[in-house]
Amino acid sequence: MTFARVAGVGSYLPSNRVLNNDLVARGVDTNDEWIVARTGIRARHLAEAGQTSSDLALIASQRAMEMAGIDAADIDLIIVATSTPDFVFPSTACLLQNKLGNKGATAFDVQAVCSGFLYALTIAEKFIRSGSHRKALVVGAEVFSRILDWNDRATCVLFGDGAGAVVLEAADSPGILATALHADGSHHGILSVPGNVCGGKVVGDPFLRMDGQAVFKFAVRVLADVAKECCDVAGLAPESIDWLIPHQANIRIIEATAKKMGLPMDRVIVTVDQHGNTSAASVPLALDAAVRDGRIKRGQKVMLEGVGGGFTWGAALLEF
Ligand code: ACO
Repeated sequence: MTFARVAGVGSYLPSNRVLNNDLVARGVDTNDEWIVARTGIRARHLAEAGQTSSDLALIASQRAMEMAGIDAADIDLIIVATSTPDFVFPSTACLLQNKLGNKGATAFDVQAVCSGFLYALTIAEKFIRSGSHRKALVVGAEVFSRILDWNDRATCVLFGDGAGAVVLEAADSPGILATALHADGSHHGILSVPGNVCGGKVVGDPFLRMDGQAVFKFAVRVLADVAKECCDVAGLAPESIDWLIPHQANIRIIEATAKKMGLPMDRVIVTVDQHGNTSAASVPLALDAAVRDGRIKRGQKVMLEGVGGGFTWGAALLEF
């Protein structure tokens, strides 16, 4: 039987680190105390003008490939999760493929907003387990700063830019132990960018709009449920998870999820304080941070979780 295991991880944050007080200095009607108390966010990184999702994805991918000890030519599947693609088309995955110098791999984007990385990872796992592909590059990359209304203090303080990547390869043992993905489109209105490009013009609203309290309640409910679902599939008790890496949107959502799962916060990876919410990039960014600082070790059980616009949500339980 073929399984899929993580062979390497990598990430990249733009060099421009912006503190809460820097937003105040730029004219956003907010303050550090409010942002820290309501969200836990202290800083985020913002891309330079002209720096795109594929640019961020390239560096994250190169770092993951270096850890895995593989070259671009070895990759036969590239999936990029993003809601902020470089273009309408071609896909960011094809642009990344070209920048990496890979030719011939299967390459496509996945759009599931903040759950995008979980969707992409699950798809890649199924490709590998089917035997059709052997080495996948799975990336979450976002420049959410481009779709924020900087006059809307209730949303613009929450997000940041960045990319995270994983090399997933065929193996004789797991690897990924269980996955679960869900969506409920009836909640499309509580978090969306309800605009489009049509006839050379922006039609509708090109900025992120959110009902924060509705999103908060939804996220807490589904994150704990989907983690339990994954544990049931794998036949493991939630307490046996070594590390929980939830989507990094808000420290209060993360703490409530950990509490519902019965996990102490010292087994939860938190980067939202330093990265803000980087949507599809948030989980692989946090995974990379915890692998590189030595907290996550080979053989440990790690639960990854996402929730985002759609609404979409999902989890993957893996033996690292
Ligand atoms: N600075 C200062 N004051 C602010 C700010 C700000 N940046 N934003 C809003 N306020 C004010 C409001 O105007 C309001 O003032 P009022 O009482 O005078 O009217 C007050 O703060 C309270 O506003 P609420 O929106 O009720 O604040 P709430 O406690 O709900 O916190 C927040 C808002 C942080 C967005 C919260 O609802 C939340 O975390 N929701 C989850 C949303 C989230 O994480 N989304 C990420 C995307 S979704 C995802 O990734 C899954």
